[in-house]
Amino acid sequence: MTQDQLKAAVAAAAVETILPLLDDDTIVGIGTGSTANLFIDALAAHKLRFAAAVASSEASAQRLHSHGIEVVDLNSAGQLAVYVDGADETDPQLNLIKGGGAALTREKIVTAAARHFVCIADDSKWVEQLGAFPLPVEVIPMARSYVARELLKLNADPVWREGVVTDNGNVIIDVHGLWPIHNPAELESHINQIAGVVCNGLFAQRSADCLLLGSRDGVKRIER
Ligand code: 5RP
Repeated sequence: MTQDQLKAAVAAAAVETILPLLDDDTIVGIGTGSTANLFIDALAAHKLRFAAAVASSEASAQRLHSHGIEVVDLNSAGQLAVYVDGADETDPQLNLIKGGGAALTREKIVTAAARHFVCIADDSKWVEQLGAFPLPVEVIPMARSYVARELLKLNADPVWREGVVTDNGNVIIDVHGLWPIHNPAELESHINQIAGVVCNGLFAQRSADCLLLGSRDGVKRIER
C-alpha cells in the first residue's frame, strides 16, 4: 500500500468513528493537510448527517465549501463534539507535533474547543520520542529574530520558513535538532513563554484522545 492509500484508509476509519456522534445539530471540527483533505472527501458522503464544520485553515474551509458543506466561525459554534486532524509525529502517549502545513495555531484552538480529538496518520508518523520532525513555531513577524535567538538557547537550530505567511498573518520558525524531546508538555509551555511566540506545534498539554494509525496490517486504533 502507498502512503496515500494508508492516509485514505485512516480517513475512512475516522468517518466510521465519528458517525455515531453526528446529528442535525453537530458541528464537526476539521483539520488541515493531506490526510485531513482525504477525511473531508470521505465525510462529504455524509454531509446531510451533521449541521456544519469549523475549519482550522482557509484551505480546509475551501475544500469543505467545494463539497457543499457549510463552514461556520468557531465563535458561533460553541463546544465541538469532535475534531479530526492529521499530525507530523505522534508518540505512544499521543503527544503530537503538528504544523507542517503552518496551520498549528488554528488547529490548537479548534482542538481546545472540541470534546474529543481524533488524530489520523499513516505509520510513518509514529515515533517513540518526538523531535526528529522540526518543531513549527508561529511567530509575530517583528519578533522573528528575537524568537530565533531565544530558541538557540535550547541548543536547537531555528530555521525561518521563508515565504510562508500563516492564515493569521504571521511567520513560521521550524526548530531542528530537538530530538529527543523528553518532556513535551514542559517544552510546549516553555516555548510559548517567549515574547512574540503565538503558538508552537507541540500538542502535549492537549494531546489526541484517539489515534487511528494506518499500516500495511490495517488501521490500528490507539486510545489515550
Ligand atoms: C498542518 C498539520 C498537518 O496535520 C500535518 O502537517 C500532517 O499533514 P499531512 O496529513 O499532510 O501529512 O499539522 O498544519
